[in-house]
Amino acid sequence: MVINNAEFIISCAELSKCPKPVLPEYAFIGRSNVGKSSLINMLTDIRKLAKTSSTPGKTQLMNFFLINGSWHLVDLPGLGYAKVAKSSKSKWEAMIINYLSKRRCLLSTFYLVDSRLEPQKIDMNFIEWMGKKQIPFVILLTKVDKISKFQLEKNLTLLKRALLNSWDEVPEMIITSSEKKTGKEEILGFIEQTNKIFKV
Ligand code: GTP
Ligand code: MG
Repeated sequence: MVINNAEFIISCAELSKCPKPVLPEYAFIGRSNVGKSSLINMLTDIRKLAKTSSTPGKTQLMNFFLINGSWHLVDLPGLGYAKVAKSSKSKWEAMIINYLSKRRCLLSTFYLVDSRLEPQKIDMNFIEWMGKKQIPFVILLTKVDKISKFQLEKNLTLLKRALLNSWDEVPEMIITSSEKKTGKEEILGFIEQTNKIFKV
């Protein structure tokens, strides 16, 4: 699939303010700074569509982007960013959890994991929570341009092993780099296939 058109639609903090749930939707989740917004820019080929920053905590609302006039990508704030005041941190997480639990048109989430790190508790807990809630997800390993093949293989093995503690099979995973455009075809192919199952 080719993205010919991508436009920002709305930023909001509540489910009731989100666009009507009539189009297929995909949301990007993961710890602050893992590369959610950068990946949206990479997929759409628009460098500044989603705001990115080298300091965590950049994305503070749910941001909706309409793609090819027919489906939405949603950029969410990061999970677990310690420097945000406790009140706004729990407010963000409550907003994300409410959105993920109730959004009817959400066909899948992309849960981003930093490929440079060994499995993190916060990621494992969140992935397990999505499993319990039966929220479909694909794991995206980010920033693979920053590590060696050897390190990547090592971290992948550790991640798979950690996931197999709570899953019978390893969930779907895609290796990505926004810098090198790694994983673009695979993510867009997944979306193209998944869009076909959407019913209003
Ligand atoms: P929050 O909005 O704070 O939750 O962060 P985010 O997950 O949206 O991360 P963002 O896309 O803003 O990226 C964070 C930093 O990582 C930025 O400095 C990006 O340039 C950098 N970055 C993101 N993806 C990649 C990648 O694939 N490779 C490299 N080398 N850097 C990346
Ligand atoms: Mg962001």
